[in-house]
This record gives sequence, structure tokens and C-alpha cells, in this order.
Amino acid sequence: MVKDLTCIVVAGAFWGDEGKGKIISYLALKDKPDLCIRTGSVNAAHTIYFQGKRYALHMVPGAFINPECRLLLGAGSNIHVEQLLKEIELTGVENRLGVDKQASVIEEKHSIQDKTSAHLKGIGTTGWGVGPAIEERVRRTAKLAKDIPELKPYLTDVAEEVNQALDANKKVILEGTQGLMLSLFHGTYPYVTGRDTSAAAICSEAGVGPTRIDHVLLVYKSFMTRVGAGPLPGELSREEAIKRGWFEIAAGTGRERRSAPFDFELARKAAKINSATQAAVTKLDVLYPSCKGVRNYDELPAEAKSFITEIENYTGVQVVLIGTGPEPLDIVDRRN
Ligand code: IMP
Ligand code: MG
Repeated sequence: MVKDLTCIVVAGAFWGDEGKGKIISYLALKDKPDLCIRTGSVNAAHTIYFQGKRYALHMVPGAFINPECRLLLGAGSNIHVEQLLKEIELTGVENRLGVDKQASVIEEKHSIQDKTSAHLKGIGTTGWGVGPAIEERVRRTAKLAKDIPELKPYLTDVAEEVNQALDANKKVILEGTQGLMLSLFHGTYPYVTGRDTSAAAICSEAGVGPTRIDHVLLVYKSFMTRVGAGPLPGELSREEAIKRGWFEIAAGTGRERRSAPFDFELARKAAKINSATQAAVTKLDVLYPSCKGVRNYDELPAEAKSFITEIENYTGVQVVLIGTGPEPLDIVDRRN
């Protein structure tokens, strides 16, 4: 086990959908983490391609593809019970998944409130009910995981498990959801999600203090996308997005994503606020099709390399992982 990779936080830089699921699935196979802790809630979907199958997971941590990895949902997370149980069955992880007893629970009524509340009109939420569920948690009236009989077999103390694992020098991935520009504190308020999405918040939701983190791996996509309302600097027309091959449909909601070219200023802001120590850039093959499937940095075309160098120069963060295709191992890994 490599000591300097004991605890790594994976955070998104833009508006979510940067490809964190893909990066986490790579780390799951390559770094063989002992634990992976997912934060956030059901509004986020992480897409993972594995052995020819596509998974869009809203609840189960992305490292599920490594059968040795224990999968946890932290105290700060917000559990959609039905979706979780469905995904546990789909992925076959019932014997290695744990839910913090103090995680809050999102109910059907929250989804209805999300779709009908006047104060949420125009935000373009996912409609899962995450905002109203967190409102209820803040009111101290929310149900917690420990109140739900179906969750009983999975209940645990995630903070205790993670800190014990770190004491034993085990490898831990803290899996963020969404991206910095959707952060309740640092994003494009009011067009944001109901929580902070920064690296510090990911730690807090899991119950790990900042001094235990060895790396903050910030995930950028080679171009930017956004679903829902709110500003998107440099936004392209739908036609132009289709022409460039950047047009995407959201994994979670089936909504069309708006798109824009990579914004270096935003990238710098995200690196700063997350205190990123490493970066990943996904979908380089969408920007430069000749990168598809390349796994060796030297084989990337010159223009792709200079794009990566420009990101590094702007952000001051080394790009260590570069995604070149959907399968977990379609990655250029520049770590030692
Ligand atoms: P909510 O999180 O459902 O309240 O939605 C608030 C905003 O965050 C909307 O613009 C959503 O489209 C966006 N959002 C929430 N989760 C995700 C995600 O996982 N990917 C992309 N956008 C998201
Ligand atoms: Mg997503």
C-alpha cells in the first residue's frame, strides 16, 4: 500500500457530471481502496461502465466494481431508501454496504414539495426532493436512517469506521457528488443544490477532519455542461453542441445538458476553494477524438497535451489522470 495515497477526496469542479464516477471506478480497480464513502444524495447520478454494462448510480458508491471495497454512506448524506435498496440488489453489494445511522432520509413528500414549492420554481431542480429533505433536516424534524426498518441490516457508524480504517493505514476514498459551481456556499446561488459540494464539505459529511486528507483530487471535464437553470459562461447553442459532439443527456434525469468550452478562470477558482492537490480531466477523447483509448501520455496528440499543460499552468495543479474513454481503464495515469 502506498502511504501517500491513504485518504483521497474526489470532488467535482464544475456543475457535476464531470465524470467523477469514471474516475472513482478507475481508482477502485487501480488503487484498491478498502473503503469508499459516498456523500450527498439521490439527485446525483454517477455513471460507471463496467464489463460492457452501464450503471447510473444515485446511491451506491462508485467503487462497487471492486469486490474487496467496503461501501459506506456518511452521516451527512441523505438516503432515498427505495432507490438504495434497488441499487444494492442491482450491484449485489448487500454484504459490504453500510449506512450511517444518522444519515437523513428523503421521502416521497419531499419530491412533491420539490416540484410544487413556489420558492424552488425556476431553479430547475432534479425533482428528487433533496432541497426539501434538507430543509426538514435543518428544522430537526427529519427521519434518520436508524428510524427506517428496511435499513436496519446496513446501519453503522461511518465516522468510526473511516477513522479506524485510517488509523490502520487503510486506503479510503471520499466520493463527492456534483461540483463546486453547484455549491450552496461557493456556487452560482440561487442556482445551486442544497448543500456545500466542496472537498471540505465532503470530509465533513463523512466524519473525517481535514488533517487526515492526503490528496484532494479535483475532477474537470474537457468541456463544461450544466442541467437546470443558472449561468453557464460561454454557453453554446444546442446545434453547436451537437456539432462538436458535446451534447449530453443527464444520466439521472434524462434532461438535456447545456454545454460550454472549458473555462480556465472557473477551473482556477475550483482548484483554490477545494485546495486541490491533484486534478483529473475527463472526456479528452470527446475534445480530441484521436485520444480515444490512449493510456500513455506520450501517445496523446500535441494539441491535447498543450490543453492539459494550459490547465496545469492556470490552476497550479498537476493533472494526474486523463480520461480517454468510458471504460474504467481508459485512463492516462501520470502518478508514479
Ligand atoms: P437539486 O439538487 O435537485 O435541488 O437541484 C438544484 C440544481 O442542481 C439544479 O440545477 C440541478 O440540475 C443541479 N443538480 C443537482 N444534482 C446534480 C447532479 O448530480 N448533476 C448535475 N446537476 C445537478
Ligand atoms: Mg451525474
